[in-house]
Amino acid sequence: MDAPVLRVGVIGAGNVGGALVELLSDPSRHVALVDAATATLELVGVAVRDASRARPEVPTHLITTDAASLAARDDLDILVEVIGGIEPARTYIESALSRGTSVVTANKALMAEAGTQLAALAHEHGADLFYEAAVGGAIPILRALRSSLAGERIERVMGIVNGTTNFILSKMTSEASDYAPALAEAQALGYAEADPSADVEGFDAAAKVQIISSLAFGTRLAGESITREGITGVRAVDVEFARRAGFVIKLLGVAERVGETGISRRVHPAMVPLEHPLAAVHGAMNAVFVEGAKSGPLMWLGPGAGGYPTATAVLGDVLDAARNRVSGRHDVPFSIDETLHAIDTNDIASVFYLSLDVLDQPGVLAAVAGVFGDHGVSIQSMEQSGVADEARLSFVTHVARTGDVFATLNDLASLASVDSIGACIRVIDGGDR
Ligand SMILES: NC(=O)c1ccc[n+]([C@@H]2O[C@H](COP(=O)([O-])OP(=O)(O)OC[C@H]3O[C@@H](n4cnc5c(N)ncnc54)[C@H](OP(=O)(O)O)[C@@H]3O)[C@@H](O)[C@H]2O)c1
Repeated sequence: MDAPVLRVGVIGAGNVGGALVELLSDPSRHVALVDAATATLELVGVAVRDASRARPEVPTHLITTDAASLAARDDLDILVEVIGGIEPARTYIESALSRGTSVVTANKALMAEAGTQLAALAHEHGADLFYEAAVGGAIPILRALRSSLAGERIERVMGIVNGTTNFILSKMTSEASDYAPALAEAQALGYAEADPSADVEGFDAAAKVQIISSLAFGTRLAGESITREGITGVRAVDVEFARRAGFVIKLLGVAERVGETGISRRVHPAMVPLEHPLAAVHGAMNAVFVEGAKSGPLMWLGPGAGGYPTATAVLGDVLDAARNRVSGRHDVPFSIDETLHAIDTNDIASVFYLSLDVLDQPGVLAAVAGVFGDHGVSIQSMEQSGVADEARLSFVTHVARTGDVFATLNDLASLASVDSIGACIRVIDGGDR
């Protein structure tokens, strides 16, 4: 019997698409990864915006600017979408899935917004929808959650899922620099965009928390319930305080069970104890730390971005979809637990590190302490350092409700003796030290 030929179309030939086309066209890799007796992959088209741009890795005759027609080809087995953004990516994917064509995408924004609906559409038409590269680049965390941990009760997932912010915070830690120069260096090295807000304000990490939590817990909770605090308020003094106290500051995406049916999802900077595995994740690397009820703690670490690392995850998905195609089956979407509900971040308790600049005058400390007391936030330790006629106060609280800490900061900001509020950073697994 002739080996079946599976036709693959790729939309997008930028960082990821270009690397993928190169991997797909490498015959040695091909033989190594696809059982040639079972199936061969034939690249039938690569859609881009600008056909005139030089792309040595893409055979010229395959290039098209008509992505819609490529996605709608009836003889296509697998469509790879690596253009990013919501539209027109969503339309192309829906067009392919509704024809029974399997889809592989690296699109975190779209999967966070419409992953559940698109997975249902794929299932309805007997196709696969795989998106491993949408979270953590080369790290195989989604497959692990979907397959290896499918029978496990996941209690908590904490991820360093944004390489740009981890690069900036790592620089601030290793060079004792402030946020602005660390951001400028990240931009100069191509780790951060000219407009870095999607990364530094936590939007990108929130999209990944949405994707991870939907698989880890089987929820369809809307992404809007994920709260976001970015890293723009973190200063060199906070990093230094953390270092002295045995912590390192990381931007974490967190999704965790609260009681039987609650799920808390949030993105915020956190002080991670130096002995925690996440503390050792430096530079632009990503890592996802999973705590299962019976598995115990597990961690995946690796490059969360970059053309080749991301393309390896896309290629793995293409081969999975190809194997399914040959055996005439498709992956059934994960089940949804409709009893789960979103927990308000204000109701989550944690130890907090807070810093504020105050006038160095008698009575200020008593006034500040009074505000903490008004909201029932008790102070575990306090440090004062003087700068001219100002003083910087750094507090570590006992375990406190987040809403009470935010209310405390709000009231502190209106005290005449408080010049500015600095950082508000959770202490992970801090307990009361
Ligand atoms: N880069 C990473 O490290 C990384 C990591 C994880 C996930 N991802 C995800 O992978 C996806 C692609 O990222 P990337 O970095 O490869 O992006 P990129 O370098 O900007 O490339 C985008 C490609 O899509 C093409 N394109 C854009 N709009 C199009 C349209 N309407 N029709 C046809 N082609 C279109 C562009 O064509 P032209 O070349 O003609 O402009 C370009 O080839 C995104 O969803 C991203 O979030 C990327």
